[in-house]
Amino acid sequence: MEPVIRLSVSVDSFTYSDGTRAMSDIGLTVHNGEFVGILGSNGSGKTTLLRLMDGLLKDFSGSILLDGRDVRRLSPREIYSKVGLVFQSPDDQLFAPTVFEDVAFGPLNMGFQESEVRERVLAALRNVDMEGYDNKAIHNLSYGQKKRICIAGLLAMGHEILLLDEPTAGLDPMGEYRMMNLLTSLSKDKGVTIVMATHSVDLVPLFLDRLYILSKGKIVRGGTPEEVFNTPDDMTQVKLRLPHIAEMIYRLKHDDHLPFSKVPLTVGEARREIIDLFNRTDA
Ligand SMILES: Nc1ncnc2c1ncn2[C@@H]1O[C@H](COP(=O)(O)OP(=O)(O)O)[C@@H](O)[C@H]1O
Ligand SMILES: [Mg+2]
Repeated sequence: MEPVIRLSVSVDSFTYSDGTRAMSDIGLTVHNGEFVGILGSNGSGKTTLLRLMDGLLKDFSGSILLDGRDVRRLSPREIYSKVGLVFQSPDDQLFAPTVFEDVAFGPLNMGFQESEVRERVLAALRNVDMEGYDNKAIHNLSYGQKKRICIAGLLAMGHEILLLDEPTAGLDPMGEYRMMNLLTSLSKDKGVTIVMATHSVDLVPLFLDRLYILSKGKIVRGGTPEEVFNTPDDMTQVKLRLPHIAEMIYRLKHDDHLPFSKVPLTVGEARREIIDLFNRTDA
């Protein structure tokens, strides 16, 4: 069975009111349950693309379909019942004094009974690994915890599609890893469809199903991490780089002519390739 397309983006151009052309010739699709990355350097257009997908920017030429319907023809309510956008900075998103009040705000506004709201809030907090934090003051949370609460707020409203703007930016290495594990489990275990903008090349291949590389408002490549991460030079052109481990094996293969059969993207794969190479040269 063909996977169901949730978002279908075909934007010929989008220009901000000051004349900045921020998007051109964008074509991408997001399937149900997929975990998709938009990878690009600063200013490449990631935030603009997410805001277009969330129906916040309407003055573009082309079409953006959510479940087959033009987002420009949908009411904000119809969009927000399915799609939730998590801002890059949690301080732009959180506003209530306590965790419970913040996460409860959405479901309360949707008209749910108090008992249902409570259930939704507690379930959402469990899903983001923040069980027991309901009475905590927002301003006492760490940055990473705030980011999780932003996601919980959207989950409590029942969003099936999450758009996340640089969810790992500003987190320490362990926080980054935990955030990616959280998103992967939301995608794989709960069936949430996720699109995340990022410039972090080292984490991407470990977690994402598919990614698009954005450069100067254009998508220059798309596919699985293996398909997209080609050569160091291609990545430099779009102001990114290969994952460190891939860069090293690429250099050993191409500059030092070591017979690696492929360029692995993760430490685990690289380890297997190296052991394999040793075994072959021993023989
Ligand atoms: N509100 C705005 N008005 C005018 N130009 C903007 C606005 N927001 C972003 N831009 C410009 O659009 C381009 C893409 O920005 P953005 O989508 O924020 O990129 P990214 O999120 O990848 O850093 C940049 O050139 C930026 O300066
Ligand atoms: Mg941005």
